[in-house]
Amino acid sequence: MKIEIKFGPRAKGEDAVKVFLFGEGDSRSIEAAAARSGISKFLAKKHGFTGRRDEAFEFYSQANNQSTRHILLGIGNHSNGGPDNARRAGGILAGIAAKRNIVATILQDCPEPSKNLTPFLEGVILGGYRFDRFKSRKSDSPDKQKIKKLSLYLSDEFKTYKKAVERSVVITEAACFARDLINTPANYLTPTSYAREAAALARKYRIKTKIYGPGELARMKMGLMLGVARGSEQPPRLITWEYNGGRRGEPPVVLVGKGVTFDTGGISLKPNDGMVDMKNDMAGSATVIAQMIVLGRLKPRLNVIGIVPAVENMPSGKALKPSDILTASDGQTVEVLNTDAEGRLILADALCFAQRFKPKAIIDIATLTGAVKIALGTATAGIIGNDDELLKRLFDCGQATAEKTWQLPLWPEYYEQIKSDMADMKNVGGRPGGAITAAAFLSKFVKKVPWAHIDIAAVDNQEGSHPYQPKGATGFGVRLLAEMLLGWKG
Ligand code: BES
Ligand code: MN
Ligand code: ZN
Repeated sequence: MKIEIKFGPRAKGEDAVKVFLFGEGDSRSIEAAAARSGISKFLAKKHGFTGRRDEAFEFYSQANNQSTRHILLGIGNHSNGGPDNARRAGGILAGIAAKRNIVATILQDCPEPSKNLTPFLEGVILGGYRFDRFKSRKSDSPDKQKIKKLSLYLSDEFKTYKKAVERSVVITEAACFARDLINTPANYLTPTSYAREAAALARKYRIKTKIYGPGELARMKMGLMLGVARGSEQPPRLITWEYNGGRRGEPPVVLVGKGVTFDTGGISLKPNDGMVDMKNDMAGSATVIAQMIVLGRLKPRLNVIGIVPAVENMPSGKALKPSDILTASDGQTVEVLNTDAEGRLILADALCFAQRFKPKAIIDIATLTGAVKIALGTATAGIIGNDDELLKRLFDCGQATAEKTWQLPLWPEYYEQIKSDMADMKNVGGRPGGAITAAAFLSKFVKKVPWAHIDIAAVDNQEGSHPYQPKGATGFGVRLLAEMLLGWKG
């Protein structure tokens, strides 16, 4: 799939479908559209098209012996859904283009372009995404057709948005890159191959990278990460990258992503139903890796470091056993009562490592707990942390990108649940407030640095149907983190 957003004139002879976005009951834009391309302003009305969100209406108009194809897309009104309605309309356009084999479209009209234009384009790219690496016949995708190529032209009136458009294209392409990594099954994506892919990407954008193997992890005393990795034939990797766009010596923002390439649960084995989606358990880390694309191409003045502990969680004769006690790299001891609570273990060592860089903030992102889905459902990620300003920014960026976040509390009461009789803490706190006690565990490894944790376990995978999120990995977090980094202040 190749979707291109283009300014300027079309190739000769290229017949572009005309696309119009409409607010609900938006007579102004209906008239504008009519004036520009000869649609009868009554036509849309006659067909019952009102501009509701997710509404699409396709037709031909005839003039001077020429028929022109039109697609009208509804974006509703702003009080219900905001610019995400335009993103959804973009996804719907990608779906229509795929079904009808449309290769060129031209956007003729977009109400309030300063709000709706870039979300719309994002929706086209996100909605046109397909993962068909393992399909022998590429046409055998769920919607039968694959967009081979789609050019979306923007008429001259949108020229002023060129920079914003480029930014959106980069960010959504990064999201699609993350989706590819996440959708790749664990027999193709191991900690080793993952590290290799990350290094290749870093090279492409001239970003510094360093990858640590088991020997170095042992020297750094990362007992929690090594403990989880122990059950697997696949050796662990700690993947790090460093983007230096800011002043020399300016403290970096550090991103940490959970990179469990497959989570069987270990000896606390998951039932098969709970295990099938666990190739996705590196989704958090994929959003961190994908930021290299955002930073490498948009070059903000900021220092950023990415840290990804990559392991496979397997049961075996060497695997961790429930009740084993491990020592983290900062010396704290952990009683592992459930080997399926492995994410917090590897993240704990990664968070300790992150603090070596004296960061101005740490953000970790992880498919950490099934409990976050019980607490908040699938409409939002859960966020938690020790710094109100950082959490507020995460909330605002969630609203701006429609990768929404909602804060959970981190009060002293919750720490009671992770007290251990045998060690400094245990790795599970029971069912009540499971997403919170997981974060409480992480917080034990964060010392006096602004830190926020994003639990994406309920939003990393699309199971139903959604206009711009095809089934499978959503890439949730790529756009959210990009918004955070590109708008960073202080
Ligand atoms: N990777 C899972 C969390 C998860 C569950 C992600 C469902 C996506 C969908 C994590 O490692 C895990 O197994 N968590 C356990 C923790 C429990 C043992 C305390 C869980 O949520 O059941
Ligand atoms: Mn697990
Ligand atoms: Zn996991």
